[in-house]
Amino acid sequence: MNFQLLKDTVSLIFADDKGLLAMDESNGTCNKRFEKLGIPQTVESRRAYRELIVTTPGLGESIGGAILFDETIRQQKSDGTPFVKVLIEAGITPGIKVDTGAKELAGHPGEKVTEGLDGLRDRLQEYFQMGARFAKWRAVIAIGEGLPSSGCIEANAHALARYAALCQEAGLVPVVEPEVIMDGEHTLEQCREVTDKVLRTVFSELFAQRVSVEGMVLKPNMVLPGMSSGSQPTLDQVADATVSCFLRSVPAAVPAIAFLSGGQPAESASARLNAMNARFKSRLPWALAFSFARAIQQPALEIWNGHQANVAAAQKALYHRARCNQAARRGEYSQEMETK
Ligand code: G3H
Repeated sequence: MNFQLLKDTVSLIFADDKGLLAMDESNGTCNKRFEKLGIPQTVESRRAYRELIVTTPGLGESIGGAILFDETIRQQKSDGTPFVKVLIEAGITPGIKVDTGAKELAGHPGEKVTEGLDGLRDRLQEYFQMGARFAKWRAVIAIGEGLPSSGCIEANAHALARYAALCQEAGLVPVVEPEVIMDGEHTLEQCREVTDKVLRTVFSELFAQRVSVEGMVLKPNMVLPGMSSGSQPTLDQVADATVSCFLRSVPAAVPAIAFLSGGQPAESASARLNAMNARFKSRLPWALAFSFARAIQQPALEIWNGHQANVAAAQKALYHRARCNQAARRGEYSQEMETK
């Protein structure tokens, strides 16, 4: 394992308070988002949209790494330049989603396990040769009546750890994403308890599989009440619950925590990340960063709406959200940034 390469990659992607842009929606997920806006669900539409993202002027000022999907890492701009080359020239490290999706977990109604370990060693070598320097694997944990089960948490944590070990062997930084999803009526406290249990199990499996936690990135959910709970916690309540949970369950040797947005409104995701950094940054062992998909892309996607004439305006919106999240890493984000 080239440990120095892993550490250098982490330092590079989070330098200058940058974060990750997740643009690794599977074709199915990307098509669903296009469908809602009436955008054609074709290979060419997906390529044109991803070209809009990777060619956004100045994106590399606030985005240090972009997570791609298998289709996207093999695509080019309309002039034939590979997306990987465009990203590297913009100072953005390419990454790759390598799981093959969350499938029903046998014997566990309502729960899922993420698959993709078969043949992963060979796929990682290919992605490394294509220029990827980090990877992502997302596990999904639902909260509900009697959920999550220990069986679901353990199966997902074990798969995450096996994936992470294979990534490090191949020279790719594993982004380890155990997502406690926001669907449901659960309270903030229930989310904190489940997130705590999930993270403890994940780190126990990572240690068992001999993963160097210094050469990985954790991509967790923020601690939030369920979307149907009707509860509206303050920024300080979210920051307190999230940071106190991680201080108990995430080893200090982990270099960076990069949140997913999970369906929060874009401005809420920025404000909550900001609250955590503004209040706690100087006392935390890890960097608190972002790895958002919807919370960076959604406004730009809606402006683009499939039309070439809207590309420049959409790129401005994308650039703006990326800058807001970089400011949130510094604890310097404010509502004024949204209205300027
Ligand atoms: O795996 C999930 C994505 O990488 C993050 O997406 O920010 O829209 O939750 P999200």
